[in-house]
Amino acid sequence: MLSDICYKPVFAEQEVYMRRTAKLLTEIYDIPPKACVITFGCQQNVSDSEHLKGMLCGMGYILTSDESQADFIIFNTCAVREHAQDRVYGNIGKIKQLKKDNPKLIAAVCGCMAQQQSVADKIKKSYPYIDIVFGTQVFHRLPEFIYKRLKGSKRIFELSLENGDIVEGVPVKRDGSFKGWLPIMYGCDNFCTYCIVPYVRGRERSREPEEIIAEARAMVEAGYKDITLLGQNVNSYGKGCSHGVTFAKLLRMINDIEGNFVIRFMTSHPKDCTAELLDTIKECNKVSRHLHLPVQSGSDRILKLMNRKYDRKSYLELIEAARQRIPDISITSDIIVGFPGETYEDFKQTLSLVKEVKYSSLFTFIYSPRENSPAAAMADPVSRQEKGRWFDELLQLQDEIASENVKQNIGKTYRVLCDSVESEDVISGHTNGTASIEFKGGNELLGQFVNVKITGYTNTYKGVII
Ligand code: 5AD
Ligand code: SF4
Repeated sequence: MLSDICYKPVFAEQEVYMRRTAKLLTEIYDIPPKACVITFGCQQNVSDSEHLKGMLCGMGYILTSDESQADFIIFNTCAVREHAQDRVYGNIGKIKQLKKDNPKLIAAVCGCMAQQQSVADKIKKSYPYIDIVFGTQVFHRLPEFIYKRLKGSKRIFELSLENGDIVEGVPVKRDGSFKGWLPIMYGCDNFCTYCIVPYVRGRERSREPEEIIAEARAMVEAGYKDITLLGQNVNSYGKGCSHGVTFAKLLRMINDIEGNFVIRFMTSHPKDCTAELLDTIKECNKVSRHLHLPVQSGSDRILKLMNRKYDRKSYLELIEAARQRIPDISITSDIIVGFPGETYEDFKQTLSLVKEVKYSSLFTFIYSPRENSPAAAMADPVSRQEKGRWFDELLQLQDEIASENVKQNIGKTYRVLCDSVESEDVISGHTNGTASIEFKGGNELLGQFVNVKITGYTNTYKGVII
């Protein structure tokens, strides 16, 4: 029997803490205290931070990006590569001095990095000025943690992976007013051997379709024009739930919401990218013609060691099927260079796959061993220097492909959402495939769709509104 593990409204308890904290803060501070949220990592973290900000505003904090002004600082961290972790340690060290300047300051660390016991232990021992450390599945309990610490509790360390429930109703304060993130699922069950995500974000679990639709509808009503559905593996949306709504069905339901807006989504796992999904992208006029389809490697041997559950041939067939159905689809990817045991021959397979697919853009990473992941225990004889050379070779190839793409795009017209001001009379927007185009236009166009013809390229596309 299918179980409904998807929904349990438990935020009510935190609402009580929010009210209590709000009252306490008015007793402690004469003017509203300020909070600074510092985010590392992926869009899921950016979205989580928007919820942290929602809770902080609900408790009466005013948001600031200036750490020296803050009465509460929280680092929402990423653990996917070592570099991201090192940056966090560098940053949290600053709290010591900030606390000297403002003894009432409270500092917290949360997110994927904080979820690891070894990191929590290190913070406990070496960073005594960090007050609160909590993991990914209890982030909605921020009001409770702040309340308890303000009331004089000892330092708080809360890493429990609760039983996978999704907490609905957490307030959100979105960073943008016309582009927004909409999480549809959390966690990951794929256990790619290099990846820490399944260990720090827990099992895959989907929000109820009604919750997602209601939030999407509210976003459209509030003026959002560009909504990105988020999940580690959006294609497996709904697995384990009894409602029978697949990701493709969910896309159709959101597409049916009245209004002028674009739907994007990330990330798709190639093994779960179905013909039903490709047809849906083709048939739904609001769905962006873009697939982010991480391949990670072009070598079957390495794909197997990575536990990716597809091979080169089936990946290329999928690309072919997508392009046959949707000729203007933009395809982007992630690639890891230097997975343990990868040889130059394997790497050449990646180069040849990249040449064959001709991605619109690529996100490339040098393999970074992650604690407790199976790949971290595999022999890794190739030096970092050598991996760096392979990495540069891949970048150079992608640069050549990108210049080819540029030539082909000049003269084409795209519908873009004006989303940034570049200078007094120049604004920019993104195409369906996420390339940025700059063109003449004033602030009043922000948040509007315009048709732009690409006229040239210097560092970024240049165009004119037609
Ligand atoms: N080392 C390097 N890159 C990694 N990624 C995930 N884990 C690692 C790791 N241990 C990359 C993958 C993934 C992207 C989000 O980060 O390419 O798709
Ligand atoms: Fe990590 Fe693989 Fe899950 Fe992506 S699909 S989050 S790479 S385990």
